[in-house]
Amino acid sequence: MEVIIQPSPDAAAAVAARIIGDLIRRKPDAVLGLATGGTPCGLYKELIRMHRQEGLDFSGVTTFNLDEYVGIPPGHPASYHRFMQENLFAHVNVPPGNIHIPDGNTPDIPQFCARYEEQIRQAGGIDLQVLGIGHDGHIGFNESTSSLVSRTRIKTLTEETLAANQRFFAPGEPVPRHVITMGVGTIMDSRTCLMLAFGEGKAKAVASMVEGPITAMCPASILQMHRQTSLILDPPAASLLTRTAYYQHVFANKPDFQRVSAFPVI
Ligand code: GLP
Repeated sequence: MEVIIQPSPDAAAAVAARIIGDLIRRKPDAVLGLATGGTPCGLYKELIRMHRQEGLDFSGVTTFNLDEYVGIPPGHPASYHRFMQENLFAHVNVPPGNIHIPDGNTPDIPQFCARYEEQIRQAGGIDLQVLGIGHDGHIGFNESTSSLVSRTRIKTLTEETLAANQRFFAPGEPVPRHVITMGVGTIMDSRTCLMLAFGEGKAKAVASMVEGPITAMCPASILQMHRQTSLILDPPAASLLTRTAYYQHVFANKPDFQRVSAFPVI
């Protein structure tokens, strides 16, 4: 796993956007896996800026989102359909037919999930999966103890995740307990994973993921078995790592062929 520590969330978002921009320029029909939550907002802002100012063209891109709540309408202010529309899709040129987000109102969840997996396969698989991380180490909505080979399916949220996501709902409005999420195995199948994590609140999960044992108690830790995962952190999120000097040394001394254009080095 590659650990990249940047001076701020904005700097981290800029690096992540450059990695994605380079991918899209190299492979205009790239398949992106996308995430929601507070963490990727800066990345999406930067991609929008690159689209507007640098002509980054999303017209051949296909996207698959990680997850969605069950039972709230797509127009609900906390729905991930709405989040993606407001934070990215309304501002770039991904063709609407190329956008895939789990349907939390499907009448047949198992059948929908099987079809979602099939659609990912038919698109050629995910080239790059954007990820955030929950405070307990969950990815997508794969809570602690999720099967590390799971596929897209329904999950029940933990009290901790319900509390963490309450901020996206009106005060007192219950957060849906059920969600549809890509499985850990689905995420592991993507060719590249790009995780962002910011703030002290994520430090414990990040340390468990990178330096702890592989365990379903921290589903993100399975990324230790992924061939190409980059983790981009701000200093508070990196604060509980023990090998920081090594990660910084690796990053500062990357051979040219591994560098994304003008990577800022700290
Ligand atoms: C939710 C999402 C995850 C996200 C996590 C952290 O559980 N399903 O994809 O990574 O929240 O969210 P935030 O980025 O807001 O901290």
